[in-house]
Amino acid sequence: MRPVSIRVKLTAWYVLVFGVVLACFCISIYVMMERKLLHSVDRRLQTMAELISKTELCAVPNFLPPDFERRLNRIFGTRPVGKFVRVLDLSGEIGSRTDNLDEDKIPVNKDLVREVVTTGEIIYETQYPLGPQVPIRFINFPVKSFQGNKVRGVVQVGTSLEFVRESMRNLLVVFLILVPSLLFVAGVVGLFLAGKALKPIREIARTARHITVNNLDERITVPVARDDVGQLASTINGMLDRLSLSFQKITQFTADASHELRTPLTIMRGELEIALRGERSAQDYLETLGSSLEEVERMSKIVNDLLLLSKSDMGQEVLHYDPVDLRSLLANLISNFKVLADEHQIQLSSSLEEVEMVSGDQLRLRQLLVNLLTNAIRYTPAGGKIDLTLRRVDEGVEIAVADTGIGIPAEDIPRIFDRFYRADKARSRQYGGSGLGLSIVKWIVDAHHGMIKVDSAVGEGSIFRVILPITRDNAAAFI
Ligand SMILES: Nc1ncnc2c1ncn2[C@@H]1O[C@H](COP(=O)(O)OP(=O)(O)OP(=O)(O)O)[C@@H](O)[C@H]1O
Ligand SMILES: [Mg+2]
Repeated sequence: MRPVSIRVKLTAWYVLVFGVVLACFCISIYVMMERKLLHSVDRRLQTMAELISKTELCAVPNFLPPDFERRLNRIFGTRPVGKFVRVLDLSGEIGSRTDNLDEDKIPVNKDLVREVVTTGEIIYETQYPLGPQVPIRFINFPVKSFQGNKVRGVVQVGTSLEFVRESMRNLLVVFLILVPSLLFVAGVVGLFLAGKALKPIREIARTARHITVNNLDERITVPVARDDVGQLASTINGMLDRLSLSFQKITQFTADASHELRTPLTIMRGELEIALRGERSAQDYLETLGSSLEEVERMSKIVNDLLLLSKSDMGQEVLHYDPVDLRSLLANLISNFKVLADEHQIQLSSSLEEVEMVSGDQLRLRQLLVNLLTNAIRYTPAGGKIDLTLRRVDEGVEIAVADTGIGIPAEDIPRIFDRFYRADKARSRQYGGSGLGLSIVKWIVDAHHGMIKVDSAVGEGSIFRVILPITRDNAAAFI
């Protein structure tokens, strides 16, 4: 099915609503007009009937004066055109009448006459003696005695409603011509206006259609007006910015990952090729195998880290939150790292306060601390110091890893949490790092709704502070 353009849809709705409003308007005008015309006919009939009832023509209702017509003309000054008049007695028998209508054409409704006589009220009546197209409207007016309210007879004054019918027919014709013409004009104008209003959207769609992976830098020209369309354009541009950024990151990430894995492979290949070139001593083979194992270990660490990060990106890495006693976790880690620190001739000290338990994943929190401590040892030269502290702060529990190592240049600090980012590539590689450790740290901190801050000065050392929140419920439950 062909899609209907929004422009046509809008116009159709507009024409439909306008049509309904117009139809309601015309119907009410028609009904009002008909009522008004009928009312004015009734009023005129009443005035005439009242006038006649007060003359000597009605003195004796069942007596037919020979010169009825002439006398009537005298009352009104002229002959009332298109009207018929008749005077009835109390039983509904016709006394006097104008001769412009035959008596039997409009039969007297005796029940109605009786009602007028008994109640003394005016009653209007419509009859169709000349066919449905020519209705005759007439009044049944009670003739009252001069002294009191006693009804003496009934005056009927009638007129054809052809004029009303004609006027209403004319009005209908006007409406039938006017309404479709107005709807047509509204449709054309609506189509034009909708097209004009939607033009910027069509342009946005056209530009957006052209943007592919190859030209993610292209942007939609934002209209000057700060209206909905302007907002749409800047929203799409914002989305393109984010897309382009994450696309760049992915491309960079893939390039970095392949590069990181290629280096150990190249080293291994070179060593194995040399080993295979000629007969070697057992010692040489052992050395080659040992160094190859080192490279394999390095690669498997990178692959494991990458796997963990991509799983976390996809939300597949589920953390298991339990109450964690950070103090014993840290104490345990320090005893493990003591050996490594001693090996590197680094002094490892700690000051661990008693703090509340936090809700967290014990394994991941351990990994976070291992990564920070490994960095501290890796980037601190022999003779340096590492200090680990655990304390309660306003925001929660703070773990700080401070070292007196090489430090991080200020311009690198914002980027050290990026994947594969190393402040000093050449040196880091020599230390054995691939630049994924802090990315994992950041992910674990975020997953625990915590914060991480870095202070560092080149040549003086660095301090990494991790703050984990304690929710009120946890604090109460875990103490
Ligand atoms: N304590 C520190 N002192 C000085 N520089 C540091 C310290 N910690 C991190 N860095 C810098 O930040 C970079 C990123 O650290 P990260 O832990 O992510 O990677 P890595 O240690 O190089 O490799 P990996 O941890 O994946 O084995 C490091 O390469 C280093 O340049
Ligand atoms: Mg590291």
